[in-house]
Amino acid sequence: MVIKMEILVIGSGGREHAIIVALKKSSRVTKIHATPGNGGIGAIADCHNVKARDIPGIVALAKELKPDWVFVAPDDPLVLGAVDALNDAGFKTFGPRKNAAILEGSKTFSKDFMKRRKIPTADYMAFTDSEKAIDYIKRKNTYPAVIKCDGLALGKGVIIAQCEREAVEAVQSMMINGKFGESGKQIVIEEFLEGAEVTVLAFTDGKTIVTMPASTDHKRAYNDDKGLNTGGMGVVAPVPYYTEEIADECMEKIFMPTVKGMADEGKVFKGCIYFGLIITPDCGAKVIEYNCRFGDPETQAVLPLLKTDLLDIIEAIWDERLAGINVEFSGKKSACIVMASGGYPEKYSSGYPIKGLDTVNDDNVNVYHAGTKAENGELVTAGGRVIAVTATADTLQAALDTAYSAVKKINFKDAHYRTDIGKKAIDCSE
Ligand code: AMP
Ligand code: GLY
Repeated sequence: MVIKMEILVIGSGGREHAIIVALKKSSRVTKIHATPGNGGIGAIADCHNVKARDIPGIVALAKELKPDWVFVAPDDPLVLGAVDALNDAGFKTFGPRKNAAILEGSKTFSKDFMKRRKIPTADYMAFTDSEKAIDYIKRKNTYPAVIKCDGLALGKGVIIAQCEREAVEAVQSMMINGKFGESGKQIVIEEFLEGAEVTVLAFTDGKTIVTMPASTDHKRAYNDDKGLNTGGMGVVAPVPYYTEEIADECMEKIFMPTVKGMADEGKVFKGCIYFGLIITPDCGAKVIEYNCRFGDPETQAVLPLLKTDLLDIIEAIWDERLAGINVEFSGKKSACIVMASGGYPEKYSSGYPIKGLDTVNDDNVNVYHAGTKAENGELVTAGGRVIAVTATADTLQAALDTAYSAVKKINFKDAHYRTDIGKKAIDCSE
């Protein structure tokens, strides 16, 4: 008798594609559903058309499909309480409940939390009044100044102001002109931290925390960190400058205090915590942001390194027995290159046919779809970030070479990708 094991994954990007590929490796998973999914996900899962932010729609879909698990991947539904609604309807889930997702949902909460718990982070002040915020900027008179919307803003709610004029404009755009809607009514102004950026994703059941290999995103659109911030143009993992010594210090001063602090405050966090860190040369690692979910595109680089069955981990987190399982990674190196639509993150066109996907046939390469859709039997571009190509190898250089040679086989009109992903990591390991 085949035991049914069906999973519904919420979301539509490269991260969700990578999660689904990892879940598919489990011998126990019999079917995967995704909503809304994308062109690539549609090839390995049944896609539905409920949007990720539509919580009643997601619950109704779950009631129709009766999955054994619902994996809520993106920030919006987590912060809006999708997990609570699904649990109330009797479904088992992966992802934090609303009261724990606030770690990402409110910068004011997360900054105050870190202060209460003595977790190292940039100095800051929170404001609900624009005049007071502008006064503070003028009095401090220190640049760059970092100005952040309190709430979610599609990854665009952080402005690094280089002078008073830029800082004042940032406050005005958020608090007075409503550029980010409700998310910007409250803001945080914080100290600019200098140092290398590292992402650490970690599984937690609210008691135990298991970190994944550290990774580093490349946020700017163009080579040499030029151009605007994007959702992420590429990732390498692990990161050579995130040493064991730094990892131990982070575990003691950041990771465990976060999990314990949330639990002590009645906000037990179950799922994946994203620690965005800056390794400062003088004061060690400091948190620049928490996310309440897997990162995108960090997931596309990190999950191919996971050896343990992801379903086993999901079950252990739900049952709060993460301490009892052995979560293993392959020890290989991983490189992920994002292919974006020309013009992204500003105006770009969609609907261009994507060619060459079938010419990538390498077991060490995963081609994840981010913004694609199937149209009349053909895959076409359907978003800013279109494809994320990940390769794994014994060395980072080999992973990068393999990933880039796969990227060169894939094409669509005006495709853009950075050609310097991983360069800093390679330079520092030489
Ligand atoms: P966030 O959305 O909080 O991750 O911020 C977006 C990006 O802004 C981060 O990835 C960093 O590159 C940068 N950033 C955020 N906060 C700081 C800070 N306090 N100091 C320096 N850079 C920062
Ligand atoms: N890569 C950044 C994020 O997932 O928020």
